[in-house]
Amino acid sequence: MPHLPRQVTRATALAFAALAVPAFAFAAQAAPAPARSFTPWDKAPGMPPPVTPELLEIGGRVFRGACLGCHGEKGNGEGREGKLLQIPPRDFTQGAFISRSTPSGSLPLDTDLFRSIRHGFKPAIGMPAFNFLSDREVWAVIAHLKTFSERWKTEQVPPPVEAPPAPPRTAAAVKAGAEVYKATGCAFCHGEKGLADGSSAPSLTYDSGKPVVPANFTKLADFKCGNRPEDIFRTITAGMDGTPMPTFAEALTIEQRWQIVYFIQSLGEGAAQVAINR
Ligand code: HEC
Ligand code: HEC
Repeated sequence: MPHLPRQVTRATALAFAALAVPAFAFAAQAAPAPARSFTPWDKAPGMPPPVTPELLEIGGRVFRGACLGCHGEKGNGEGREGKLLQIPPRDFTQGAFISRSTPSGSLPLDTDLFRSIRHGFKPAIGMPAFNFLSDREVWAVIAHLKTFSERWKTEQVPPPVEAPPAPPRTAAAVKAGAEVYKATGCAFCHGEKGLADGSSAPSLTYDSGKPVVPANFTKLADFKCGNRPEDIFRTITAGMDGTPMPTFAEALTIEQRWQIVYFIQSLGEGAAQVAINR
């Protein structure tokens, strides 16, 4: 504490106090702790920090504390609690991911993995959303999970697929979306009204051979990869690797994809309306 002059006014005392506190905090802790930030899933989290031995060490600790029970020590999805879940935890040794902004068959961006960990995969009993981890801890655990597959050493992560701004949602676009939905065969899996009851639905499996249920479009809140228009557009464009959900980047024009997005949203909103009006 610096020595105070004899004639202390309230203002000078406050000024000294303000000087003294940070000096004390600095002395107690050699370096000031970096601010802990918690970016939510629907906001851009900024740039990942450089991968250092320290970051990998934190990542290993977070993984053992929060992920290992389901994803397993080797990251192969065979954790003790994971085996009890309705939806199999991801096997990170395959390097295949459902939630990507990169083209079908490629590795995801770090920011895609960030969004997945913050958002979780909620339908039935699946992966929770991790909101208690700081941004730095999420980046650290991402660096750790990349050590489970050789793909991260041998492949480049391509740039994200084109995501033009959404056109206005009009009644005509929703109607056109219904037509494209029918013509493209989405209903074989997702059902005519999007109830996940298409004729192929009962026989669908993950690449691992375990059964998978197609998305139910009347339950927008259950969407794994986000339910904002840009999220659904991304899912239809990039497909969901490791599952039967294909990419429609080639089969559908950008305009047709937006039309389907709005049709899917209208199915979900229609269902919500029915539930409220009952
Ligand atoms: C309660 C079990 C559980 C815990 C704990 C858990 N996960 Fe998961 N995780 C799952 C399940 C189940 C899936 C598959 C979800 C699906 O396909 O619907 C999954 C999928 C993922 C995916 C795949 C994303 C994609 O695009 O395919 C990532 C990444 C992931 N988890 C990371 C983590 C990390 C990191 C942690 C720890 C901070 C963690 N998980 C903790 C159950 C869990
Ligand atoms: C061969 C079957 C099949 C066809 C055809 C198919 N899907 Fe899917 N779709 C799936 C499966 C299975 C899932 C769920 C994957 C998962 O949960 O991991 C899925 C998931 C989705 C999701 C993901 C929602 C979320 O959870 O974020 C959307 C959106 C979607 N499909 C749209 C479409 C559209 C639009 C079409 C047609 C243009 C289509 N699908 C055609 C099987 C199919």
